[in-house]
Amino acid sequence: MVSLTLKNTFLTLIILAGVVLPQIVVGQNCGCATGYCCSQAGYCGQDAAYCGTGCQSGPCTGSNGVSVSDIVTQAFFDGIINQAPAGCVGTSFYTRSAFLNALSSFSAFGTIGTTDDSKREIAAFFAHATHETGYFCNIDETSPSSNYCNATYTQYPCAPNKSYYGRGPLQLSWNYNYGPAGDFIGFDGLANPETVATDSLVSFKAALWFWMQNVHSVMTTGQGFGATIRSINGAVECDGKRPDLVTARVNLYTNYCSQFGVAPGDNLSC
Ligand SMILES: *[C@@H]1O[C@H](CO)[C@@H](O)[C@H](O)[C@H]1NC(C)=O
Ligand SMILES: *[C@@H]1O[C@H](CO)[C@@H](O)[C@H](O)[C@H]1NC(C)=O
Repeated sequence: MVSLTLKNTFLTLIILAGVVLPQIVVGQNCGCATGYCCSQAGYCGQDAAYCGTGCQSGPCTGSNGVSVSDIVTQAFFDGIINQAPAGCVGTSFYTRSAFLNALSSFSAFGTIGTTDDSKREIAAFFAHATHETGYFCNIDETSPSSNYCNATYTQYPCAPNKSYYGRGPLQLSWNYNYGPAGDFIGFDGLANPETVATDSLVSFKAALWFWMQNVHSVMTTGQGFGATIRSINGAVECDGKRPDLVTARVNLYTNYCSQFGVAPGDNLSC
C-alpha cells in the first residue's frame, strides 16, 4: 500500500457525507459508546449511515454471525507463515492470536453479507497481507525509497526524523495513515510509527484499520478482488503497469478461496 491513492477515500467521503469534507474525518477516533456504530468516515451513530456499508466497529448491520476465527484456523495461518524463508523477523512476530485479538476493534471485518462473502473478504485480506509481507516474513518495508511524509496533510504533521514507510501486514505507509490509524487504535502514530513494527497487536490493528477504511467496502459491495488491488496499490500495479504483481495477488486470493471452499467471484484483476 505504498502508493495509496487518496481519490477513493475522497470519493467515499463525498458519497457518505454528501459534501466534500476535509480529510480529517478519516482520522476521527471513534471510541463510540456501547450500542453505537463507528461509520466508515469515523463517526459514531446508530442508523444505516453509520452501521451500514463501511461500518468499522460496533453493532454493524449485516453482521452475519460468522466467527472469523473458525475460518482463519491455526492450520490456515501456519500454511501461510510456514512458507516464509528461515530466519525471517516476521515469523516470531505475526501470530494468529494477535490477528484474532486485533479483530475486537473491527467487528465488521468478515461479518458482512453471506458466509461466502465473509470467506472472500478474509481470503482477500490474507492474500494482500501475504503479498505485502512475503508470507509474513517482513515487518518493515525492505528498502524504503523515502520517509513517506506528505506535508500537505497538516493535520498529521510528520515528527522530526520519523519515517512512515511500510510496516505490518499491509505495510501501512504515509503520515496521513499513521496519524489517523494511531488515533483510532490508541497510540501516537506520528511520534511512534515504529509501534506498528514492534507490537504485533497494534500491527494487525493498523492493517485492519487500513482495510476497513479503504478496502472493506470494496469487498462488501461486490466489486471483486481486482478492485481491492486498486485500493491498495492500484497506481503502481493496475492498468497494465505490473501484471506480474497483480497475478501474484490473484493467485494467492484464489488459493485461499479454494482453501475456504468458496468461489472467488468475478473481476479478479485490475
Ligand atoms: C501529497 O498529497 C497531495 C494531496 O493528495 C498530492 O497532490 C501530492 O502529490 C502528494 N505529494 C506526495 C509527495 O506524495
Ligand atoms: C534528527 O537527525 C539529525 C541527524 O542524525 C540529528 O542531528 C537531529 O538531532 C535529529 N533530530 C531529532 C529531533 O531527533
